[in-house]
Amino acid sequence: MAGTDQLAIVELGVADAPVGLALSTEAHWNQNEADWRFFLTHGPVVGVRDHHGDLIATAALLPYSSGNAWISMVLVTAAWRRRGLATRLIDQCLATAEYRGLTPWLDATPAGAAVYGPLGFKPTIPLLRLRLEGASPRKRSPPLSSSANLNELVLRDRSIMGFGRSTLLEELSGRAGSKLVSHDDAMALVRDGRKNRHIGPLFASNSGSALALVDHIIGPDTGPWLIDAVGTRQEFLEGLTGSGWTIERPFQRMRFGSATALPNELSKQLPFAVVGPEYG
Ligand SMILES: CC(C)(COP(=O)(O)OP(=O)(O)OC[C@H]1O[C@@H](n2cnc3c(N)ncnc32)[C@H](O)[C@@H]1OP(=O)(O)O)[C@@H](O)C(=O)NCCC(=O)NCCS
Repeated sequence: MAGTDQLAIVELGVADAPVGLALSTEAHWNQNEADWRFFLTHGPVVGVRDHHGDLIATAALLPYSSGNAWISMVLVTAAWRRRGLATRLIDQCLATAEYRGLTPWLDATPAGAAVYGPLGFKPTIPLLRLRLEGASPRKRSPPLSSSANLNELVLRDRSIMGFGRSTLLEELSGRAGSKLVSHDDAMALVRDGRKNRHIGPLFASNSGSALALVDHIIGPDTGPWLIDAVGTRQEFLEGLTGSGWTIERPFQRMRFGSATALPNELSKQLPFAVVGPEYG
């Protein structure tokens, strides 16, 4: 196979959503075309095409408020890995972030963390992806009838993250198949992915009400479901695994450089589940 030095990094556009989706599907990720369109609209998303013009690698930098940004969709097709493409694309994202005065964050897979660590990203909170599949719909709580308020979700998210993500949460919750749900003081966003329904973010004052909300959301639906839980929420994790959820993979939240806004990483203010590794 030819070297990668002559392959230019290019900025991708919304028309690239289907080929981006082909890359994330190859990695068995859950993003759908709407996710790709969001990144490509609010990006920038950079990529590399091979000598035939086929997209072989991508990386997205999603600007949030108060000088923060999320790096994600770092994907290299299997045949082109370990040739420095991900490193070049991340370098490009870091240069753009620096130029725009943005502090980059990301949620790394174990393979991704091996790339980001040497580039200077430092670990913050651990995350765990859990899956519920084929669970028997025994004694589940009935589905929720009331829907939660988007403004409240945006405010709770901002107080925990330390920066606002109203554009993202508005778009995700407005999709067909999405719903905002609340029960007692707990609230969550539920959305469709390519193959699995996804719960997150999920905010609650304690693990009991977080678990009750998950139970209400699922009701008699046997899934498949995904939730990206904060790894330090021990009681919540035990409650999920005790009711049929299995741990699928870890993610490591990482930050490059010092924080411009300080989320309460180690306080009780942490969410129970995040939006997803691609959005933070
Ligand atoms: C992770 C991924 C993006 C890496 O892409 P890549 O182009 O192969 O990465 P690079 O060639 O820039 O790797 C740079 C260095 O990172 C480390 N690295 C990369 N992949 C690694 C792996 N699977 N295991 C251990 N170290 C790895 C190595 O130190 C590597 O340098 P070397 O090849 O000289 O040893 C690619 O494997 C991929 O698409 N995986 C599936 C999706 C995914 O997990 N994406 C990351 C999301 S956070």
